[in-house]
Amino acid sequence: MSEPILSCRGLTKRFPGVVALDGVDFFARPGEVHALMGENGAGKSTLIKALTGVHPRDAGEAVLAGKSIHPRSPREAEAAGISTVYQEVNLIPDLSVAENICLGRQETTLGFIRWGAIRERASAALARLGVAVDVDKTLSDCSIAIQQLVAIARATDISARVLILDEPTSSLDDSEVEELFTVVRRLRDEGWAIIFVSHFLDQVYALADRITVLRNGKLVGEFLAAELPRLQLVAHMMGRSINEVEALQHREPPARPAGEPLVSVRGFGRRASVRPLDLEVRRGEVLGLAGLLGSGRTEVARLLFGLDRADSGEMHVEGKPAAMRSPQASLRARFALTPEDRKSQAILPNLTVRENLIIALQARRGIWRKIPRQEQDRLVSQFTRALGIKTSSPEQLIRNLSGGNQQKVILARWLATEPRLLLLDEPTRGIDVGAQADIERLLAKLRDEGLAIIFICADTAELARNSQRIAVMRDRAKVAELTGADLNEQAIMRAIAHGDASHPSS
Ligand SMILES: Nc1ncnc2c1ncn2[C@@H]1O[C@H](COP(=O)(O)OP(=O)(O)OP(=O)(O)O)[C@@H](O)[C@H]1O
Ligand SMILES: [Mg+2]
Repeated sequence: MSEPILSCRGLTKRFPGVVALDGVDFFARPGEVHALMGENGAGKSTLIKALTGVHPRDAGEAVLAGKSIHPRSPREAEAAGISTVYQEVNLIPDLSVAENICLGRQETTLGFIRWGAIRERASAALARLGVAVDVDKTLSDCSIAIQQLVAIARATDISARVLILDEPTSSLDDSEVEELFTVVRRLRDEGWAIIFVSHFLDQVYALADRITVLRNGKLVGEFLAAELPRLQLVAHMMGRSINEVEALQHREPPARPAGEPLVSVRGFGRRASVRPLDLEVRRGEVLGLAGLLGSGRTEVARLLFGLDRADSGEMHVEGKPAAMRSPQASLRARFALTPEDRKSQAILPNLTVRENLIIALQARRGIWRKIPRQEQDRLVSQFTRALGIKTSSPEQLIRNLSGGNQQKVILARWLATEPRLLLLDEPTRGIDVGAQADIERLLAKLRDEGLAIIFICADTAELARNSQRIAVMRDRAKVAELTGADLNEQAIMRAIAHGDASHPSS
């Protein structure tokens, strides 16, 4: 076993009302990928921020290559040798790939930027990673996956030795994840110490050599990935026994058959977005939408909710013709949509948890009928409990919650409107396994109470386990519908790849 290049001892960070990090020891070794695991709010991001100068730490020491370090900003951490790539790429979209890699490190001659040198340096940084991108391309024209690789190229362009990846794969599809992992393995083999944060257990086991588990800001332990069975890992994360974890996987079948159709559309579509399709969702049913990234799943949800306007077809709600032309109309019809990209589309960072939670309900009732404070408090405490939202207080700003807990607040926001139709786009992304099981159960309960749910999810196992019916999308068209005995993971994947027997078109 190689000596750690980075040793942290007794790292402690307190926020008002919460000890986010409580005397944690952590070590990163060269030539290893070290996964940092734990439930939402366990302290993973805080550990990284305390290491990289985003937050001053309250106690503890960090030693990098024999030298004690006290970075006061990510830039100082970078200079010391620790680079971080976050889930949300924090580069500048309007600049070129080359500029983004060399930003702030530009080579100048007598004050003039030397463009040739910048291009060369950026190309070299990308070539080292084995990534082929035109460095003159504007960053915003690149896919998220490429942007992330550019961020890594930037991070590894300076002579750093530790690379931190905080949930880097949340918005990537399978092949993009593979591409990212190829780059990460390459860096590992060159002797980088890599710290990897993710809620995807498959990815952790595919990539990590070592796993450190945190719970409630405390260190649970450090393990070799090859020696830590998956169930045991989850049990450590949740602080439960293996039996209890196994029980979480159990899912009750629907209490009763699905009811009347709530929403049905025919020939419903939008040019360049969704090819005309028929779709129906019933009360008391979860309709899953399967398909690859870009297959049109999200677009279907946006059309149904009226965020985009359908330019063909018709919609019926409870058998009556309906014109869902706007999100406002959808709100009145008691439709709810939790979007995929919560950061930009849903969270109001400078409002409190309470304000974020009640805002959709308030919008439906109209701004003149302010929800009484007592009712607000009741809703907040009800949903905080039901979804296990971890916050020091309902008056906490939502941006101070951990990523997964922010997501739960957004889900609560829509549940509070008591919707008839709930459209969920990737509701469990970034949510830890325990909370995911809680949310899945809650959805099953709401379904049994008669809610119609449309569930979009990239994970076919999760989709199969939670849906009564599945519509499969490919190339912006519906290519198959699966129910009953036909509804299983293999069938979903087959339909995603080929369409099913009744649609042998490709
Ligand atoms: N700036 C802040 N102000 C107040 N509290 C904070 C702040 N940042 C984090 N916290 C709290 O510290 C705790 C740890 O949060 P952290 O973001 O480290 O969790 P995490 O393990 O990264 O979770 P997730 O998996 O959801 O991203 C949480 O209780 C969170 O609410
Ligand atoms: Mg986090």
